[in-house]
Amino acid sequence: MIVQAYLTPGEIADAAFRGKPVVVIDVLRASTSIAYARAHGAEKLIPAASIEAATRLATSLDRATTLLCGEREGRPISGFDLGNSPLEFTSETVAGKTLIMTTTNGTETMSRLEGARELVVCSLVNLSAVARYLREEPELFIACSGRLGAFSLEDAVCAGKLIARLRELGVEPLVPNDAAVAAEILFGVHGGDLRRCLGETAHGRFLLEIGYGDDLDVCSRVDALTTVPVVREGRIV
Ligand code: MLT
Repeated sequence: MIVQAYLTPGEIADAAFRGKPVVVIDVLRASTSIAYARAHGAEKLIPAASIEAATRLATSLDRATTLLCGEREGRPISGFDLGNSPLEFTSETVAGKTLIMTTTNGTETMSRLEGARELVVCSLVNLSAVARYLREEPELFIACSGRLGAFSLEDAVCAGKLIARLRELGVEPLVPNDAAVAAEILFGVHGGDLRRCLGETAHGRFLLEIGYGDDLDVCSRVDALTTVPVVREGRIV
């Protein structure tokens, strides 16, 4: 398997992933929240690149079964039904619903990946399920969402752990690009205590400051879920 990682979204302007599967990682918190939404029965999830696009789309759907979700600067968006804390995506709230989600980095990264065969949403909470789903692929792209265009340690560490898990599953030979090698090294350094790692990252510290410390506990629970959310034709169904 050839593994091509992108550690920041700016690197993604490469048409090489067209027609190929791309793993999208935003550990804090979009990809974790999406995994919980699907695990808890959300019927459909539509990533939207902007608040305007999300709101416009909601007006064309049945409002009784549609939830607008997402964040800006980590906080819920005025007029939306849910924010972006994975703890909000309970079965009571999301089961059977269509979710339209817009976030600062995670859904923004997805919008850059048009043309991929499918986007596989990965975080620490569903990492082994994602590795099993993709283990037979000859070529895999991994897109880390980062933070406001910059590198995020938590996303790179998750990418590194995903690559390590693919190796454990017997994927051989596994041919990583330099970014994938770096991600594995970072996982080797920080993988021993992922909760601590998340709390020391820039976005983790920010979430702690604004009162979302519990989210770091949820986001660091490796393999809490077996859900593999897959975006095809702009939506997860
Ligand atoms: C994002 O996509 O930017 C994040 O998920 C931000 C957050 O809600 O922590």
